[in-house]
Amino acid sequence: MKKTTTLLLFLCAICSISAQDLMTNVYGRNFQSLNGKWDAIIDLYDQGHKNQIYQNKKPQGKTDFFEYSFENGLRLNVPSDWNSQIPELKYYEGTVWYARRFDAKKEAGKRLFLYFGAVNYRCRIYLNGTEIGKHEGGFTPFQIEVTDKVKEADNFLAVEVNNTRTVDAIPAMAFDWWNYGGITRDVMLVTTPNTYIKDYFIQLDKDKANQIDVRVQLSENTANTNIQIEIPELKISQKLTTNSEGVAQTSIQNIKKLERWSPASPKLYNVIVSSDNDRVEEQIGFRNIAVKGEDIYLNDAPIFLKSISFHEEIPQRMGRAFSEPDAMMLLSEAKALGCNMIRLAHYPQNEYTVRLAEKMGFLLWEEIPIWQGIDFENEQTKTKAGNMIKEMVMRDKNRCALTFWGVANETQPSAPRNEFLKHLIQCCKDIDNTRLIIAAFDLVRFDRNRQVFVMNDPFIKELDVVAVNKYMGWYHQWPVTPDKAIWDVAKGQPLIISEFGGEALYGQTGNADVVSSWSEDYQATLFHDNLEMFKHIPNLRGTSPWILFDFRSPFRFHPTNQEGWNRKGLVSDQGFRKKAWYIMKEYYNNK
Ligand code: GCU
Repeated sequence: MKKTTTLLLFLCAICSISAQDLMTNVYGRNFQSLNGKWDAIIDLYDQGHKNQIYQNKKPQGKTDFFEYSFENGLRLNVPSDWNSQIPELKYYEGTVWYARRFDAKKEAGKRLFLYFGAVNYRCRIYLNGTEIGKHEGGFTPFQIEVTDKVKEADNFLAVEVNNTRTVDAIPAMAFDWWNYGGITRDVMLVTTPNTYIKDYFIQLDKDKANQIDVRVQLSENTANTNIQIEIPELKISQKLTTNSEGVAQTSIQNIKKLERWSPASPKLYNVIVSSDNDRVEEQIGFRNIAVKGEDIYLNDAPIFLKSISFHEEIPQRMGRAFSEPDAMMLLSEAKALGCNMIRLAHYPQNEYTVRLAEKMGFLLWEEIPIWQGIDFENEQTKTKAGNMIKEMVMRDKNRCALTFWGVANETQPSAPRNEFLKHLIQCCKDIDNTRLIIAAFDLVRFDRNRQVFVMNDPFIKELDVVAVNKYMGWYHQWPVTPDKAIWDVAKGQPLIISEFGGEALYGQTGNADVVSSWSEDYQATLFHDNLEMFKHIPNLRGTSPWILFDFRSPFRFHPTNQEGWNRKGLVSDQGFRKKAWYIMKEYYNNK
């Protein structure tokens, strides 16, 4: 038994993938896409790993046989969830194997990495018959070095994906969105020099409008390597030298004519980071964000956040969003609504969405799915959540649009929860201590003695901005008329209403005062009433209706009004704007 344990531990050592190893800006690297049709096998009883089907054996003699083959069977698109590809997989929770072959250009002095944008929820990666890595977490990237494992031709890559919900996972056993499984984002084979520019963090100094802080990390602890930072439009060209950890950092000060990024003017600069044998470039924006008392400041002026949420889903396709055209569809609808911010609910969304949102001028709130019931007392769960949030921060820390790192949604007060979330906040700050930390709570209640809305969760002092989900007129009926709905919540801190709204089936009208009507008219009444209440929240600094589009959820059973859809969208699953959309548009236009 002991020998087996040692072997398993050793294998885990081989397979572990660390967030800190993630290369920055994968799209700026030299890569070969592995997207396309992959062979697939549905493995409902998890027999594949045990039977080593990743070796893809073929009968040799007359007595050989195998009860599987990757060729000539089911094929699935990568990237995409599996649920939306064939009817049999609509509700599927379990294991699906993906496999494909690829050639690799092997060059002296170069390294090769497999990079996955996301796989939901857990996976094991096999190359040419050997397990080479595994990952848990459905919404963040990971990479595995394969330099010494690939052949020039005909490599066999197998990915074992499982999306079964478990108590110790993040999210856990029940969540209000579809559990789309699969290789849901881009896959690529990345080529880098032996010593490559693994990571860099280039952003405007948190407190200065004319200073850019730069930190560059090589893949090796190589000292005295020349690094060059260029921002041609600002006439910046700086030479740095790495220290014994392979790190080079500097602050570029007294920059003239730097145009700071903002929703109204989303200015991005071409930034080039180069060393003797590597070069990476991308568009980076520069802005200041801060909290001052109850105000949120962007570039030295207070800002009101005109936000909206959306899930990473294209309703018309009934599937995960994963491409730039998908991002364009979702973000164009948010732009039409007059928003200056997006809450990317409830998990890190794909990099196309984040980068395009920045180009279009949206501030972003990004979070990992610490959604309601999480196993806060489980140390392994805490470690996994820490890795997940580090992967998110590592990937997007150069996106100036990123304003908030979100650490929780609707968690209940407890000591284990507080310790768990403090760990997540520290994980963020270990990588990036410039953004604002936020979390959404559903703890506001009406105090009948004081006749005001209150909230009691001391944990909010750990946050820069407090967010509240409150469904007045939907889950909660009005204790007073909206014009008398006064709030005394998180005084001294900025407050955002991060979710409010109610359901309506597009085209269903009338009954403007009947909640169960699921009518557009009732939803419109509800929005009117909530916008009236918002006038009586003295530290309100932003609103974010739930949600831009109707979205799929196994929570939503009503046979005619829902049919497996959460209908709180301002826009229907077919892309039609409901009456409440126009109310919200007018509110944002007048803000
Ligand atoms: C919660 C939760 C959302 C959910 C919404 C709803 O506030 O944060 O994820 O979809 O309520 O009930 O529609």
